[in-house]
Amino acid sequence: MELKEAITTRRSVRKYKDDPIPEQTVRELLELASWAPSGTNTQPWLYIAIEGKDYLKSLSSHCKSYILEIIDSLPALEIYRTTLSNPGYNIFHGAPTLVLIFGNQNAFTYPNDCSMAALNLMLAAWERGIGSCWIGFARAYCGTPEFKEELEVPPEYQLVAPVILGYPADPPGRGARKEFKFSFHQK
Ligand SMILES: Cc1cc2nc3c(=O)[nH]c(=O)nc-3n(C[C@H](O)[C@H](O)[C@H](O)COP(=O)(O)O)c2cc1C
Repeated sequence: MELKEAITTRRSVRKYKDDPIPEQTVRELLELASWAPSGTNTQPWLYIAIEGKDYLKSLSSHCKSYILEIIDSLPALEIYRTTLSNPGYNIFHGAPTLVLIFGNQNAFTYPNDCSMAALNLMLAAWERGIGSCWIGFARAYCGTPEFKEELEVPPEYQLVAPVILGYPADPPGRGARKEFKFSFHQK
């Protein structure tokens, strides 16, 4: 797949086949993710991959409840209250694998670095026919000290990008992009 094709045909996938992604494949994708640029080449990422559709379904319930508990202090999330209150809504969309990208907060640019690693991961996955979706709804709960402790993530690491992976059950949609704002200054 050409880079241009990968960039323009990657879509957030929200319906997955049951087939798991082999650990070796996840490792190879993370190897590619790690070629992302990072401030002063700090490479501050730490990846945790969790496989298990049923586990992720129960984790989804924790994530939803956690956001609903704090939603009054987060006005931007108010529009999602109904969705998050729906017991049938799985924030992980039935994906078999969740990759959590944590960044070492001692690296000044860790949110930028880890976001770029996340995009590399999504594009590398797509090149192999693996779908992905960044799940912002997972960040609050999966970033709590209690959850990090469960996964033995050192306290200086903050969760930046929760990304699900799996084989898409449907072909990707075409996607749409707004006209971008742009001006070119030749001086
Ligand atoms: C920071 C961030 C958070 C996101 N959170 C969610 C999410 O919680 N659930 C979800 O289904 N999609 C989520 N998405 C996916 C976006 O909805 C998606 O990228 C956007 O609609 C554009 O569609 P495309 O990725 O198919 O091009 C998130 C994307 C980003 C970059």
